[in-house]
Amino acid sequence: MNIDKLFINSFVKSTERAAYGASTFKGKNDKIGADQAAVDEMRKILNNINMKGKIVIGEGELDEAPMLYINEEVGTNTGDEFDIAVDPLEGTNFVAKNLPNALSVLAVTRRGNLLHAPDIYMEKIAIGSGLPKNLLDLDYGIEKNIKLLSKAKNTTPDKLTACVLKRPRHDSIIRSLKSLDVKINFITDGDVSGVISVAVPKSNIDIYIGTGGAPEGVLAAAALNCLGCQMQTRLVYQDSDQKNKAIKLGIKDLNKKYNIEDMVKGDVIFCATGVTDGELVKGIKDLGDHFESETFILHKSSNTNKIFKNKMKK
Ligand code: FBP
Repeated sequence: MNIDKLFINSFVKSTERAAYGASTFKGKNDKIGADQAAVDEMRKILNNINMKGKIVIGEGELDEAPMLYINEEVGTNTGDEFDIAVDPLEGTNFVAKNLPNALSVLAVTRRGNLLHAPDIYMEKIAIGSGLPKNLLDLDYGIEKNIKLLSKAKNTTPDKLTACVLKRPRHDSIIRSLKSLDVKINFITDGDVSGVISVAVPKSNIDIYIGTGGAPEGVLAAAALNCLGCQMQTRLVYQDSDQKNKAIKLGIKDLNKKYNIEDMVKGDVIFCATGVTDGELVKGIKDLGDHFESETFILHKSSNTNKIFKNKMKK
């Protein structure tokens, strides 16, 4: 069953308010304060929505996060049952240093339709729409994937641009891309918008490659699901504790490669409000007693895909 379009406004309000909360910490070098403000604002709105909502991707487990923790029930406990993935502040560093591209992000599906991903790393590869299904595979390696992609796009590797999170763990990926003359667009944080950039024509990104947070991976998959793009992921474990976390969340095959439909099933609403100005949306604008926000909204079943500007009281 689809999710009623009427829910869009309420979920958008939750990312708008969270973005506003985080924005009050812009440039204050306080990542924790900014995150907490976003969490508090988002939680308040979610708890007013008539639904039986469950946080399946949140700020961590109950002992790590006092609010919006995994398995927290949100809403008024009436009506439809939803699974909700939240990242009230994606890009804590961006806000702390007043840099572009911080977002407040949320995705909703009906109960049981979102991958319950632990808060560990995940390998990710993503490409845009209109390409042959299952074109790339994490196990093919960079060279084969780039060659397949350039062939499918009827071009050569030197005309492609890859978006990569700048981390030492990506050195070998970067070396391989450079040896193929692929252009690289580095990001310093924020791989939700990094992955989504494959769907944004003006960004000119052909492929996203690299390892980042698994929660961010599922959120990005929700967006790409609505946009007809492709993504493949695989969880990365640093120790046995991380494996146990995954097992506890019901993951049976620890080395499974997930395609979008393995992470996000059925209908989905995705919203991302800008905290600081970014490629996808503008950040919160302080207008005195009001603020202005910009939200990227997707709803699969109603084909909603828009940027929504709003002005509201602080
Ligand atoms: P935070 O907003 O939680 O700081 O996450 C930002 C982020 O860049 C994510 O977008 C990304 O998935 C992850 O951190 C990468 O993790 P790390 O900084 O450990 O490489």
